[in-house]
Amino acid sequence: MKDILQELESRRETARMGGGTRRIEAQHAKGKLTARERIELLLDEGSFEEFDMFVAHRCTDFGMQESRPAGDGVVTGWGTINGRMVYVYSQDFTVFGGSLSETHAQKICKIMDMALQNGAPVIGINDSGGARIQEGVASLAGYAEVFQRNILASGVVPQISVIMGPCAGGAVYSPAITDFIFMVKDSSYMFVTGPDVVKTVTNEIVTAEELGGASTHTRKSSVADGAFENDVEALAEIRRLVDFLPLNNRQKPPVRPFFDDVARVEDSLDTLIPDNPNTPYDMKELIHKIADEGDFYEIQAEYAKNIITGFVRLEGSTVGIVANQPTILAGCLDIDASRKAARFVRFCDAFEIPILTLVDVPGFLPGTSQEYGGVIKHGAKLLFAYGEATVPKVTVITRKAYGGAYDVMASKHLRGDFNYAWPTAEIAVMGAKGAVEILYRSELGDKDKIAARTKDYEDRFANPFVAAEKGFIDEVIMPHSTRRRVCRAFASLRGKQLQNPWKKHDNIPL
Ligand code: HXC
Repeated sequence: MKDILQELESRRETARMGGGTRRIEAQHAKGKLTARERIELLLDEGSFEEFDMFVAHRCTDFGMQESRPAGDGVVTGWGTINGRMVYVYSQDFTVFGGSLSETHAQKICKIMDMALQNGAPVIGINDSGGARIQEGVASLAGYAEVFQRNILASGVVPQISVIMGPCAGGAVYSPAITDFIFMVKDSSYMFVTGPDVVKTVTNEIVTAEELGGASTHTRKSSVADGAFENDVEALAEIRRLVDFLPLNNRQKPPVRPFFDDVARVEDSLDTLIPDNPNTPYDMKELIHKIADEGDFYEIQAEYAKNIITGFVRLEGSTVGIVANQPTILAGCLDIDASRKAARFVRFCDAFEIPILTLVDVPGFLPGTSQEYGGVIKHGAKLLFAYGEATVPKVTVITRKAYGGAYDVMASKHLRGDFNYAWPTAEIAVMGAKGAVEILYRSELGDKDKIAARTKDYEDRFANPFVAAEKGFIDEVIMPHSTRRRVCRAFASLRGKQLQNPWKKHDNIPL
């Protein structure tokens, strides 16, 4: 009996060593942790339960039968993050470069199936040379099996991808289907075709980092939702993110203990809006002052900075924030901002996370590049996302809410539940100057007349009261009491029930 136990322990030890000491050292030398070290940091201490530790590949081509390491390049299982269950897979670059074989894919599929059945998030740690070259189409089939599960799990359980090494070719499409992608600076990259193929086909010379590093994907392509300095920081931040999310689409987001006064008054907000309507201010100040303990988890912080998206807690419950940022492009909506915010709103709606929208938007960004780029379709994504969302929606207009952008930003007409405005709000078809130039074109030569007309327009529309008279604004609130008002609004909406008409699925303008 003792021998058998020893045999098990010795097999486990071998499996834990993955591709062996030399390759583990090489991994560490690149500043990367091993697949198991990553899982240890991600999950609560001692909570990891492994599946399929002894699974080995079945390939016999290219002499592969001589090397059948236990685990086949991926560590899979489940554990907890602050006591809440998650499923995890972590590719082991020390075993065949973490490449995906038929059996490697089957291991991932097994935990994905369990995650779906048991209603818990899936966190995938990617560090892989892609399809196992020796296995050919079996490996491609394996990828497709994973993709199919990613698709079915979308909107059912949160799926988070962490890219901690190479992720190339078709392998990128599994993370791309998941809800969030996070990367590690300088040690991870993602691209469909690598620098060599790019050079051959297009003659462009580009490094892997330039083509698909963290900076590229968080700033230019928006493929990634965030980037971290190293593996340790990335895994700690994923733990923080998971704390904001429900385990599945049938559960409410978690309620965490909070140590902040719900009725906290912030007098400084009464002077947040500058006297000059064209002077910007930092909307993040408002977000931090509303949130429990000022804690804000920003998503896509480096992309389309004219709109801010992320999670806060109010009275301990998760709330998704969408906010125009007047310091960038005056807070205009454009193609990138619309896409970024639309995806975020849809995530929140899919997972029952209420949405707080903070509005200071002078309209859609004009220009040929926007029109040629399809701002009509992309802007419609955000409009559609807000309009279809059935979660509690609270909106606060701090300053400008002009034109179509007023409608889009969770207005009353898109089933906003509480639509508040600060006294500084200006709700109009456009700014006074633009309006007067159109309405009184023939008087443009007469400066005094135009000034008087502009003042007239401002007096009439540069306030929240016309909209409030019509009931489009439920209440004009004091800036200093925003946290209390918003918390009370969401508290009153905890029992909200709203259903869209039955349909197979909608046809959002993609
Ligand atoms: C089998 C692989 C492998 C792969 C790497 N290895 N990639 N084995 N299949 N795809 C092995 C290497 O042989 C090596 O084995 C070990 O992993 C580490 O690889 P190195 O090259 O030494 O590491 P490094 O220099 O860090 O380079 C990493 C790399 C490179 C950039 C990922 O290995 C590489 O370019 N690999 C091939 C990438 C690729 O073309 N994949 C297919 C993409 S197409 P030893 O024994 O020496 O340690 C694809 C299609 C998916 O993925 C389609 C889905 C629809």
